[in-house]
Amino acid sequence: MSFAASPVRARSADSSTYDVAVIGLGYVGLPTALAFHAAGLRVLGVDLDPGRLEAIRSGRVDLLDNDHERLRAARDGFAVTAEPADASRADAVIICVPTPVNRHLVPDLRALAGACATAAAHARTGQTIVLTSTSYVGSTKELLARPLTARGLRVGTDVFVAFSPERIDPGNDRHAHEDVPRVVGGMTPRCAERAAGLLGRYAGKLHTVSSAEAAEMTKLLENTFRAVNIALVNEFADASRLLELDVTEVIEAAATKPYGYMPFFPGPGAGGHCIPCDPHYLLWQLKRDRLDTPLVSAAMNAIAMRPGRVVERARQVLSDQGRGLAGADVLILGVAYKPEVEDLRESPALEIIDRLLAAGARVRYHDPHVPELVTEGGTKLASVEPGSADLVIAHTPHQALDLGWLHEDQLLLDATYRFSGRARRVAL
Ligand SMILES: NC(=O)c1ccc[n+]([C@@H]2O[C@H](COP(=O)([O-])OP(=O)(O)OC[C@H]3O[C@@H](n4cnc5c(N)ncnc54)[C@H](O)[C@@H]3O)[C@@H](O)[C@H]2O)c1
Repeated sequence: MSFAASPVRARSADSSTYDVAVIGLGYVGLPTALAFHAAGLRVLGVDLDPGRLEAIRSGRVDLLDNDHERLRAARDGFAVTAEPADASRADAVIICVPTPVNRHLVPDLRALAGACATAAAHARTGQTIVLTSTSYVGSTKELLARPLTARGLRVGTDVFVAFSPERIDPGNDRHAHEDVPRVVGGMTPRCAERAAGLLGRYAGKLHTVSSAEAAEMTKLLENTFRAVNIALVNEFADASRLLELDVTEVIEAAATKPYGYMPFFPGPGAGGHCIPCDPHYLLWQLKRDRLDTPLVSAAMNAIAMRPGRVVERARQVLSDQGRGLAGADVLILGVAYKPEVEDLRESPALEIIDRLLAAGARVRYHDPHVPELVTEGGTKLASVEPGSADLVIAHTPHQALDLGWLHEDQLLLDATYRFSGRARRVAL
């Protein structure tokens, strides 16, 4: 991912009409809007945040190079606006707003409810509306179909409503957006047909399921599967350390099996907008019916507790050297939630920094993709040139990390499990 070097020319919306309006121009919505435009559609991007629109207009957005090219080239038939009512000028609407959790790990539905209410209020006859934000089962019906029906619009006849989860993987250019199959579920078969017709304009492969609810559950399964496997492999990492084994070697060996195994790698926690959040939408929903899903709950608890474990391990490692965390100089290598992105959302590093500071450590970080950050606790830090410290914590293994200064005698807590073989390296 990178910033564009030159400004783009996305226009502000005028009185034109559009084939599709994309509500929410974030990590997912903007590449989606650009994919539709590249496929020849007239696209209107809608985002409430003027700062985001300005960033898009100036090209200073975190995108794959290919999408930067598209953004630079986008002029005719590509416009952006902060006015939600403008979505009514499009034949179809894609909703792609954030669905985070709050500090108590409870779904925060404000953006989703707001965007759906806007889309429903401004919907016009003949329009197709596709919800793509990850959410609980029943969201499409409750937040879109019901208010449309309440307006007197018949879903499946006057307006067409569907759910199609996003599967984009920001920062990963191994799978082009167009090549990743899209799952589509409609409120009615005609809704599914309309939505598939729209998404098929850029997506090479579509998989239609019987309902919007089945499509919503599909996304929850995909990301819960990842969460459970991340929690599992973290446990294997802990067990391997106890048994004096290199977990990475074990995982790579297991991955030689051509069926029945998929490699996941351990780390300091799970960040980003999906893994630490999405399964909570399912858990929250099931609580209403008092259904317990202990495996998913245990995995999500383990993921939430992992950053705290990094700090406890740092305390242990320093204590083995005869010193405490208080007053120790700690350098964190990489703070983004995953390699090659600047995205800090839910990054374990933020909690690790706050906990280290609370324990009295002096904390610095180095991340070529993140020039500055503000932690949950409100601490502002700027990336520093890397250099020796009482303890270095390897957190995000960006390719661009400068490691030339990292000498064998540097005490290194390796939360990435990528530095095995170094003299003073200890595994998380
Ligand atoms: N980021 C990922 O890797 C990823 C991958 C697959 C699916 N998803 C899902 O896609 C959805 C969007 O995620 P994202 O990462 O793009 O979020 P994001 O935070 O990057 O962007 C969301 C954008 O929506 C805008 N917005 C919020 N409320 C709005 C409203 N009412 N009207 C118009 N704009 C509004 C925000 O200003 C922001 O620019 C989420 O449900 C997420 O779970 C994300």
